[in-house]
Amino acid sequence: MDKERAKAFMSTMVDTINAGSIALMISIGHRTGLFDAMAGSGPVTSVELAAAADLDERYVREWLAAMATGGIVDYVPDAGTFELPVEHQMLVTRAGGPLNLATTTQTIALLGSVEDDIVDAFKTGAGVPYSRYPKFQGWMAEESAKRFDAALIDEMIPLIPGAVDALTSGATLADVGCGSGHAIMLLATRFPNSTFVGIDFSDDGLEAARINADAAGLRNASFIGIDAASMDMVDAYDFVTTFDAIHDQAQPAAVLANIYKALVPGGYYLCAEPRAHSLLRDNMAEPMSPYQYTMSTMHCMSVSIAHGGEGLGTCWGATMTEEYLAAAGFNHLSTSTIKADRANSYFLSQKGA
Ligand SMILES: C[S@@+](CC[C@H](N)C(=O)[O-])C[C@H]1O[C@@H](n2cnc3c(N)ncnc32)[C@H](O)[C@@H]1O
Repeated sequence: MDKERAKAFMSTMVDTINAGSIALMISIGHRTGLFDAMAGSGPVTSVELAAAADLDERYVREWLAAMATGGIVDYVPDAGTFELPVEHQMLVTRAGGPLNLATTTQTIALLGSVEDDIVDAFKTGAGVPYSRYPKFQGWMAEESAKRFDAALIDEMIPLIPGAVDALTSGATLADVGCGSGHAIMLLATRFPNSTFVGIDFSDDGLEAARINADAAGLRNASFIGIDAASMDMVDAYDFVTTFDAIHDQAQPAAVLANIYKALVPGGYYLCAEPRAHSLLRDNMAEPMSPYQYTMSTMHCMSVSIAHGGEGLGTCWGATMTEEYLAAAGFNHLSTSTIKADRANSYFLSQKGA
């Protein structure tokens, strides 16, 4: 028994409890707009902040106490004021775009809402279906929109050789597992001569996608509600994309084979998947590994198992992804990363001509 080690672990446990608690409160600060109200406002009292954000002062005061003791905001006891330091602002405000990690803290409450189901699943081996995550599509849309807004047009699509020119002239692109369809919306707006199709089996996601496309008056974007594992399209698209939509599939191999079939000969497939190694030992030093394995256990792996699937998990990693792409028939061309998306790796593949 190493007493020093035990003492250090006590600190780890205390830090963990505090970090989990603060994550919940950061999520609330994001959802209520409190961080946005604090950014650039200088030192404020709880009364001033509550008025600025149009919220109840008692709750705002308690939230500020959590933020101050958690090191998120500065506190001056004599003045009774709180300030969001400029160095913290991009990481918790909407102005931070892809840097805003407050959107990601919402995951903790989202996953907490299915804890009972997951505890049962540990005993039965069963999965937890998408229907148990009613807030998933809303969260996912917000989480990925910040990346798409920052980098879809200027960094992600240019990874595909010739795609910008082809889409400018007129081409077809399908986004499989499109969720609420934000990528399709941005592409359809930027490339009016091309045709874009979003494919998903989530009614919530497709409903939001269709409402947004109608509101934007987009005539070159449409959405199809089908299971990608039984998608039967042949030589239909010049390009296919998937963004975080393979590792949580029930039948990833079937979906990849269907994507291959749906591409025209020589067509390109851009597949964004969580940035990870395929072996646990290689993920030990990665900063977001505990988050990724938690997300996996409490969502990505469990939804796959619920649909009778493989349960690949969030960290199936680059090596396995490349093996699956090859097994589906693709020529894998490159694996790259982009600055605006620290969460994913981008796998570019091509169907043989
Ligand atoms: C992690 S989300 C990513 C959504 C979107 N690409 C984004 O980045 O915001 C995965 C999406 O794949 C969809 N999905 C999972 N399995 C599917 C299947 N077999 N067929 C169609 N859609 C599927 C889910 O409904 C969900 O919208």
